[in-house]
Amino acid sequence: GKVCLAYSGGLDTSCILQYLLDEGYEVIAFMADVGQEEDFQAAKEKALKIGASQCYIEDLRREFIEELCYPAIACNAIYESVYLLGTSLARPVIARAQIAVAQKEGCFAVSHGCTGKGNDQVRFELAFYALQPSIKVIAPWRDPVFYNRFKGRNDLLDYASSKHIPVTSTKSKPWSMDENLAHCSYEAGILEDPNTSAPDDMWKLTVDPTKAPNEPEDFTLHFEKGLPVKLESKHEGTKTDPVDLFLTANTIARRHGVGRIDIVENRFIGLKSRGCYETPGLTMLRSAHIDLEGLTMDREIRALRDQFVTFAYAKILYNGLYFSPEREFLETSITASQKSVNGAVRCRVYKGMFSVVGRWSDTEKLYDESESSMDEIGDFQPQDTTGFISVNAIRLKKHGKAKEEKGES
Ligand code: ARG
Ligand code: SIN
Repeated sequence: GKVCLAYSGGLDTSCILQYLLDEGYEVIAFMADVGQEEDFQAAKEKALKIGASQCYIEDLRREFIEELCYPAIACNAIYESVYLLGTSLARPVIARAQIAVAQKEGCFAVSHGCTGKGNDQVRFELAFYALQPSIKVIAPWRDPVFYNRFKGRNDLLDYASSKHIPVTSTKSKPWSMDENLAHCSYEAGILEDPNTSAPDDMWKLTVDPTKAPNEPEDFTLHFEKGLPVKLESKHEGTKTDPVDLFLTANTIARRHGVGRIDIVENRFIGLKSRGCYETPGLTMLRSAHIDLEGLTMDREIRALRDQFVTFAYAKILYNGLYFSPEREFLETSITASQKSVNGAVRCRVYKGMFSVVGRWSDTEKLYDESESSMDEIGDFQPQDTTGFISVNAIRLKKHGKAKEEKGES
């Protein structure tokens, strides 16, 4: 039968491709372009040379930005207070395109090169099953026949040379990476010691913040219903198309070293993992969006959204549950929460820092300068707050009195 393999051109998936052929399968190779730096043509030639009967290259950049990154910005998505979910966000569009190819080619199974310890296996496979419940999955790194034969990189290299699989000369980096338009992740290898600093030359999407320009750079981001609709920059011009806008945000953040993080996170299966991530444009877009919510969003909608939507959405994405009823449900609440998030944010980047230097909205009037002013009274009745404070103090006075009586402080 036919198997559709998510192929990267690297050593692991090249060996898996050969292994599937050895097992008697016909292999359709599938490559997703989510904006990673990659020689797709060379990888395609390699897949065909090894013996794939076809190699599809699907450009998923627009759907990745529009369907995944934009909702993430609109709900300020973040995992464990630090990680902006760059890898998690790309998996749904990749899995969906792979299933489409598998269906077009009449494949009975799909395959991937994820390890048995990570999140990605879960994300891909839950997506596959949700999109095509009858699909079979071949996960070689969880198959004892495979992992007992290939115990490490050296076994893979030996196998590759015995099968005349060209191994790209580029020396493998001592960590594993996953790159797309939103971010680049670095994990494993020398990074597994959580107290080993990331080497300076590891980072590839941003300049070292200490070597960034000595002059700050300003630009303006406009939002409608919580989504970025325009970026205005003196250096980069005006961008409105979501892909252009996102790429331009990356360009600006890159040269000022914005968006590097280093964390120990909790994987879905229960293991902890140390990871470094650089998320240039998305870091700025998310922060600017949070700022505009301050000006334009109702306090209680914001509190409910923070408490129930942001956390849940991040967890759903992280755990690979994008194609689920709960994600569909939450997305309607994101949209509902963002009706008033219209306006613009003036932004500044400087030596790794993103900051907001002003914001305005032409349509939303929740913030009223004279009403909030310390310099004029307006319609406000200062006596009213005396009662407001008294009533709120009832409970606290009781609490204080009880402590006094018990001699606690
Ligand atoms: N730990 C991150 C996540 O789970 C990054 C995973 C990187 N994946 C990879 N295949 N290198 O989202
Ligand atoms: C992998 O294990 O294949 C990569 C890391 C992850 O999925 O979390």
